[in-house]
Amino acid sequence: MTAETSPPRDLLDAARAAQARAYAPYSKFRVGAAVRVPDGSVVAGANVENASYGLACCAERTAVFSAVAGGAREIVEVLVVGETDRPVPPCGACRQVLSEFAPPQAVVWLVGREGRVSRTTIGEILPDAFGPKELGITP
Ligand code: THU
Repeated sequence: MTAETSPPRDLLDAARAAQARAYAPYSKFRVGAAVRVPDGSVVAGANVENASYGLACCAERTAVFSAVAGGAREIVEVLVVGETDRPVPPCGACRQVLSEFAPPQAVVWLVGREGRVSRTTIGEILPDAFGPKELGITP
């Protein structure tokens, strides 16, 4: 993970707009995510919580599921913004879900509260991922 100051403006704007729409009345921790699909367009998501706490869905998974439901089958770039001092680290479940659609070289931008940014890749944040090849499947 390297410090880097300039994520793509469209990804950052989409993730921040989604973050503002997060439904996080329990944790009060708003997260926004944006994923880029191969045609260059961007799909965003926010965390959506529930009174049954364990049913919360993270911003990253909301964005991935929305992109896939919209017809995408590949994600080429990701940005996550959260209210952390350091660039927000995606949870393990979201790393796994991202890796289903994003190749190891896909760039991941992580952004914190004061706009601190890290640039990393799917392969760096989830090395040796379990994937369809382990099942002998080509989705
Ligand atoms: N959250 C995300 O949206 N993404 C992450 O990678 C970590 C956590 C959300 C889930 C929950 O709504 C809140 O942050 C506190 O855990």
